[in-house]
Amino acid sequence: MSLSSLHQRPLPKPNTLLSPKSQSQTPPHTFLSLFNRTTILLLITLIIFLGVFSPYITTIQTPSLFTSQNSPFETKWKTYTLREAVSFVAKNDTKTVIVCIVSEPYLSFLNNWLISIVRQKHHEKVLVIAEDYKTLFVVNEKWPGHAVLVPPVIDTQVAHKFGSQGFFNFTARRPQHLLNILELGYNVMYNDVDMVWLADPFPYLKGNHDVYFMDDMTPVKPLDHPNVLPPPGKKGRTYICSCMIYMHPTPGAKLLMKKWIEELKDQPWSRAKKANDQPGFNWALNKTAGQVDMYLLPQAAFPTGGLYFKNKTWVKETKGKHVIIHNNYIVGFEKKVKRFHDYGLWLVDDHASESPLGRLD
Ligand SMILES: *[C@@H]1O[C@H](CO)[C@@H](O)[C@H](O)[C@H]1NC(C)=O
Ligand SMILES: *[C@@H]1O[C@H](CO)[C@@H](O)[C@H](O)[C@H]1NC(C)=O
Ligand SMILES: *[C@@H]1O[C@H](CO)[C@@H](O)[C@H](O)[C@H]1NC(C)=O
Ligand SMILES: *[C@@H]1O[C@H](CO)[C@@H](O)[C@H](O)[C@H]1NC(C)=O
Repeated sequence: MSLSSLHQRPLPKPNTLLSPKSQSQTPPHTFLSLFNRTTILLLITLIIFLGVFSPYITTIQTPSLFTSQNSPFETKWKTYTLREAVSFVAKNDTKTVIVCIVSEPYLSFLNNWLISIVRQKHHEKVLVIAEDYKTLFVVNEKWPGHAVLVPPVIDTQVAHKFGSQGFFNFTARRPQHLLNILELGYNVMYNDVDMVWLADPFPYLKGNHDVYFMDDMTPVKPLDHPNVLPPPGKKGRTYICSCMIYMHPTPGAKLLMKKWIEELKDQPWSRAKKANDQPGFNWALNKTAGQVDMYLLPQAAFPTGGLYFKNKTWVKETKGKHVIIHNNYIVGFEKKVKRFHDYGLWLVDDHASESPLGRLD
């Protein structure tokens, strides 16, 4: 099954997929145009023929068009577990996994982020948690083993509309996935895929803290600001970004994830609040601050998009210090792409060959 065929048309629902053979040999448009009246009549005749003579033609394989089986490729990846995936991607490293959670509309952002990680030579430990089958199959076709889907599948049409109930459901699973990886005994780094690495973040993840994170507040801090949870802001809570989190598999880190899950359950989505999961993360940080060893990453290395893309003076002053850039403080897919483009951070157009996924469009 070629990647381009996956991209030209929506993926059929699981259990109704054609065999890989029929997919690659029949371009989608030709396939549909075959279904004129004559062809349908011919097919019906064929079915009757097969029905009558099938005991005698056991060597002829029934076209999988008439069965509801997945191809071996699909079955393999649909049954691939988080435990298997994590142990596969971490096998060349000392038990560290870099995860992102991606749905199909964000494949180009995934590829962009990935190119920047390849450049820092940390891509081997990347695990894509796919939110839909298309993402699972596209990634594993090009880069076997690096994507896993943890059921159930969420309706991504609804899920990627920021502020919607669907978007909340989509992000609410993040702490559960991270907790699962910690329970398996791995260090885990989570990244949103609208990020780009300019340097290797691992030298900054020093010491034995439970959790490392970055501030999403825009005011400029001194270069030697303390690496502790900042005081609460206007809403009574901090504005730590849930976009970049690094944890060791310690009781403290697990406690924080459990608290985050609890916070999301206690403060369910409401249309008025247009919630996402970041406030829940901040309340969890607030409530576990006494029990969890927390480390605030340096602002110059891990700036919020609200600072990096909005204060040229600061960017000049801190030149050479930036490590991960987050394309936030902007709403809308096209605007995000354009901004990365304008800053020379949209790598997928000219450097797709550097990605293990290659070109995706
Ligand atoms: C581990 O390293 C080997 C040899 O360099 C490489 O072929 C393999 O792809 C790596 N594993 C992963 C999961 O990337
Ligand atoms: C979100 O999750 C809730 C609770 O699990 C569920 O009832 C609801 O249908 C989901 N909504 C969407 C849009 O996925
Ligand atoms: C937690 O939040 C409360 C309410 O805003 C605040 O008074 C308290 O100082 C916070 N605790 C920590 C450790 O940030
Ligand atoms: C922009 O950065 C400069 C240099 O760090 C700083 O002095 C200034 O206060 C910042 N401006 C804003 C609006 O935050």
